[in-house]
Amino acid sequence: MLIAQLTDLHLRPAGLAAYRMVDTSALAEQALRAVAALDPVPDAMVISGDLADTAADEEYALLSVLLRRHLRLPVYVIPGNHDRRAAMRTGLGHLPGLGGSGRFLHYVVEDPRLRLIMLDTLVEGAAHGELCDERLEFLDRSLAEFPDRPALLVMHHPPFACGIGHMDAIGLRNQEAFAAIIRRHPQVERVVCGHNHRPVIGRVAQATVSIAPSVAHQMELMLRPGVAGAMVMEPPAFPLHRWTSAKGLVTHTVYVESYPGPFPFQTQPSPPVQTAPRRGEEQSKPQGGRPKASVPHISAGGGCLRIRQR
Ligand SMILES: [Fe+2]
Repeated sequence: MLIAQLTDLHLRPAGLAAYRMVDTSALAEQALRAVAALDPVPDAMVISGDLADTAADEEYALLSVLLRRHLRLPVYVIPGNHDRRAAMRTGLGHLPGLGGSGRFLHYVVEDPRLRLIMLDTLVEGAAHGELCDERLEFLDRSLAEFPDRPALLVMHHPPFACGIGHMDAIGLRNQEAFAAIIRRHPQVERVVCGHNHRPVIGRVAQATVSIAPSVAHQMELMLRPGVAGAMVMEPPAFPLHRWTSAKGLVTHTVYVESYPGPFPFQTQPSPPVQTAPRRGEEQSKPQGGRPKASVPHISAGGGCLRIRQR
C-alpha cells in the first residue's frame, strides 16, 4: 500500500502569493502533478493540514478543482492552523470525512491493510495545536476498537519539540496526554505531521513521528534559541509511505521538481586518478584519460547541480 503525504500547501487563489512572495497555487499544482506521475500510482493521498493560507472560500474551491484535475485516488485531509473547519466543509465537503456536522474534522479510514486515523489539532484563531478531552477520547476510542490492526496517525501539529524554538512555541499543547494514549496502543505504526515545513524525525512513546516538508516554502533550519522564524525556498518535497504487513511502514522522500537523470550506470570503470609526477620521476604520458563517449559530468557549484558534457 502506497500513501502520498502532502502538507502545508498554503493555497492562495491563482495570481496571489502567500506571504507576498510564494506562488503557492502553482507549487500545489506542481506537487499534485508529481503525485499523479508516480509509478505505481499511490493507493491514497493524505494532506496533513494548512491546505489553504487564509482559509478563504476561493482557496478551498481552487484545491477542489486541482484535485479533480490531477488525481484519481482517494484523498483524505485534516485541518492545520491556517484552515477553518466551516470553509473546509463548504469547499471540500465531497471528500471522505468532511461531510458530517461534528465539532471536529477527525475520522478513521478503515483500510484493511492499514487504518488511517485522521486527527484534528486545530484551535481556530490560534497557531498552536491542541487535542482537547473530546479529541483525545476520540483517539483512544478509535485505537481501542481494533487493537490488532496497525494504525497510521495523521495530524498537523507535531507532538514533540524539534528544537526550532519559534515552531515549538506553536506546536501541540498537552503532548503528555497524547503520548499516554500512544503508549497504551502499540499498534500505532507511525505518527505523520506537517506544520514545521521541514523534514524532521522524532518519537512519542514507542511510535516514530515524522514531520513532512512542505510542497511550497520551507522553514529555515535554525536551532539557535531566540531567533525569529524565516522562510527558505529549499526544494519542495513530500513523503511516500510504503506499507507492507511484513516490514511495516517505510518512507521515501519524493522531490517535486525535476532534476537531471536518471542516468544508467556506466559499464566502463572510472578513469584512474591522474597524479602529478614527483621530482625525479620519469615523465610519462597518462595511460587513462577521459572516456571518449559523451558522458555527463555532474558537479556541485553555486548552490545547484551543474551538468556539462565531456
Ligand atoms: Fe504551514
